[in-house]
Amino acid sequence: MRQELETLGQTAQTTLIEITDSEMLNKWHVKYIGRKGAITTMLRRVGELSKEERPAFGKRANELKKELEHAYQSREYEIKASEMKQAFAVGSIDVTLPGRPIERGRLHPSTQTLRLIYQIWADMGFQIYRSREVELDEYNFQMLNMPPHHPARDMQDTFYTTKENVLLRTHTSPGQIRAMHEYHPEPIRIILPGMVFRYEQITPSKEIQFHQVEGLAVGRNITMTDLKGTLNSFAQRIFGKGRPTRFRASHFPFTEPSAEMDVQCILCHGKGCRVCKHTGWMEILGCGMVHPTVLRYGGYDPSEFTGFAFGMGPERIVMLRHGIEDIRYFWGNDLKNL
Ligand code: DAH
Repeated sequence: MRQELETLGQTAQTTLIEITDSEMLNKWHVKYIGRKGAITTMLRRVGELSKEERPAFGKRANELKKELEHAYQSREYEIKASEMKQAFAVGSIDVTLPGRPIERGRLHPSTQTLRLIYQIWADMGFQIYRSREVELDEYNFQMLNMPPHHPARDMQDTFYTTKENVLLRTHTSPGQIRAMHEYHPEPIRIILPGMVFRYEQITPSKEIQFHQVEGLAVGRNITMTDLKGTLNSFAQRIFGKGRPTRFRASHFPFTEPSAEMDVQCILCHGKGCRVCKHTGWMEILGCGMVHPTVLRYGGYDPSEFTGFAFGMGPERIVMLRHGIEDIRYFWGNDLKNL
């Protein structure tokens, strides 16, 4: 068997020298030194030898495999080089062809808009406060003045977990309570960005997850005028100087009074178009003066403290700015749409 091994080695070497193309070379590799090749097969037969002969045989077989591996590599190099030379000669490689552009990564439009929003609020002295995505019913609803059975709970169909009272937040507002507990008794000036979740049928205008940026200011002399002035400054920064805005009376359980803010349509400049549904205005956020009940739940005495709050959707802002009509593009993972 030892002799057989040496003969195998020699045959392998001589056939290798005769090989002139990659295809044959591959076949040679499989036949002699591949995982099921001749050397491995011989090694498996080591049991046929006497105990004394086995170690030397095994050693030699491994050596041989290494030698053949080396020989294979240098042959492969030669063959590749000559094949390349040939290809150049017949002109099948056009070295003047421009390279394919490398796709560069970029930030998701939501991230870009979030960062712009952070910047604007940071310039106005607002800090970023991160609150949890998995919330308790008390924070998501009750302490925001939505007791069990409050009709406003229907506006926000909720993902509940298997644990009672534990849910995925349907809005960033519960972070207001968490922040108040942490800041009390200091004044507050924060934005609370993050993902929110709703149990919805997904349609071009409805998603089960999206971002919100909540804002909260609490202090001793905060008025509705501060709310309007601050939000107006924000709108000028994000939609452009001189862009008209308006506040419409609205209702949220956690603010009193409540309002919604519109900016003049940035696409048709108020003339009326598809994106603004021919109203000339785009609704961009909900806001209001923090409800006394909410302040109390946060630990602040409403006879001493007042505050304003607002909530906006960055995806909606991206859609309005770019006239995008399908919210599913945001998490659809198709780069063409972003
Ligand atoms: N939480 C509201 C929503 O999810 C948005 C909102 C409206 C937040 C008014 C506020 C606010 O802080 O004052 O639709």
